[in-house]
Amino acid sequence: MSVQNPDRVVIFDTTLRDGEQSPGISLDQSEKLEIAEQLARLGVDVIEAGFPIASQGDFEAVQVIAKAVGGPVICGLSRTAHKDIDRCWEAIEAAERRRIHVFIATSETHMRHKLRMTPEQVRAEAASAVARARNYTDDVEFSPEDASRSDFDFMCEVLQVAADNGAGTLNIPDTVGYGVPEEYAAKLRRIRERVSGDYVLSTHCHNDLGLAVANSLSGVLAGARQVECAINGIGERAGNAALEEVVMAVKTRDDFFGGLDVGIRTEELHKTSRLVSRLTGYPVQYNKAVVGRNAFAHEAGIHQHGVLSERTTYEIMDPTAVGQEGSQIVLGKHSGRHAFSDRLQSLGLDIKGDALNAAFTRFKELADRKIELTDADLEAIVADEVGSAVQHAFELQVLECHGGSVGTGTPSATVVVSVHGESRTAREEGNGMVDAACKAVKAATGVEGRLTDYSVTSVTGGVDALADVALRFESTDGVAVSGRGLSSDVVEASVRAFVSALNKVARVRESGENPYAVDRPGRLFVT
Ligand code: KIV
Ligand code: ZN
Repeated sequence: MSVQNPDRVVIFDTTLRDGEQSPGISLDQSEKLEIAEQLARLGVDVIEAGFPIASQGDFEAVQVIAKAVGGPVICGLSRTAHKDIDRCWEAIEAAERRRIHVFIATSETHMRHKLRMTPEQVRAEAASAVARARNYTDDVEFSPEDASRSDFDFMCEVLQVAADNGAGTLNIPDTVGYGVPEEYAAKLRRIRERVSGDYVLSTHCHNDLGLAVANSLSGVLAGARQVECAINGIGERAGNAALEEVVMAVKTRDDFFGGLDVGIRTEELHKTSRLVSRLTGYPVQYNKAVVGRNAFAHEAGIHQHGVLSERTTYEIMDPTAVGQEGSQIVLGKHSGRHAFSDRLQSLGLDIKGDALNAAFTRFKELADRKIELTDADLEAIVADEVGSAVQHAFELQVLECHGGSVGTGTPSATVVVSVHGESRTAREEGNGMVDAACKAVKAATGVEGRLTDYSVTSVTGGVDALADVALRFESTDGVAVSGRGLSSDVVEASVRAFVSALNKVARVRESGENPYAVDRPGRLFVT
């Protein structure tokens, strides 16, 4: 990837690596694959699929993506230890195009307190790691972690060593989001002057001061031709530069950016954002640029009038260019399986077999209650059901709730849950119906733990919208998982989300490995 069109900005997506390291996110293998497939449809150039040495689960997820996802380069992250690089290669080897991304910290504080290495050791590690990675592939990227707080001369020496050993991309991480745009741009220009070789300069900016996108764009103005970013800006702490914002800024202001090209199918942005939000359980703020539900909503009468007369009075982007079409009414309870599957195909949702059957059954159930389902509802159903097509330990069979009115009685819920095929009934009381129902599910399944996060959003607007519940659950034996559920009824959506989380706990217990542990290896090292 080092020889390229000087007008092309490579979009390197790290949703599945840095994004997946966000506090509270834990995607399973099928969810990661679903996101990777959507990223390929979106047209990203590089997918950083994970950090293979971090755990067996991370390794397998990267390997599955490398085998199944065509188009983008599949990249794995690696520390400089040779065993990490070997493992990374093993994970990505099956991909059509593959990249190893090697990193080591160069700031004084990281070298002293985290790596416990001298600068000489760090330089030697970088050289030998890049050389090792180059034995496997021509496409090697190197990052001096915490670049913004590193001694500039020393960092350039390490970058030079990496370039001399064959790194074709030099990525400059603002690991702790400390940089400001002019300074970051100036640094990149100085690196280009100081470090010789044929390499692509890349940005990787964190958002601790809310400057990740601004810093990335200044990097582009200073000559960077790769931007590392994540859908919805997810990532460690305050996150990474938001892919959709970087892409739309370069495209919308091509007059300013000198006609740079980004190979993204922007009409897929909104759908990708919703998918990532749903699977990670991270809601997208309403006023989020480009993909937020209010990004093209006009409230003030004067604005509405202006937009109705001429859209460009208050809109700098066409909503349809980013996939933000108004909710379309597509299917209802009379629609058949064929129409359902055709509609999914046209939305780019290619599901078959058991997953399609499960989604269709769910669609019918919801259509019976809700009459009309929009494209957004359909996408949500598919996202919800694809994971459920696999055999689960627990399945909700009956939910019956009482109470919840002010001043009358205590809310209670009775559930029947299939536990490994055997129906178990439990009744509990609670502070509200959701609380009572979740307690009853706990009693029926015997899984102990506590809810740490709970949020409800509606898939589309209106009082008859589908409720999309995302929650986090930590079992008493230390498995931290997310769950999500969808229904036209909030209590039912909550219980479905809860059962999906408990199924993850059961899977982890059965496999004997805990990819969802809060302190996964890797989280300690990479930000
Ligand atoms: O923020 C960071 O420094 C990273 C590196 C691994 C690129 O994520
Ligand atoms: Zn990072």
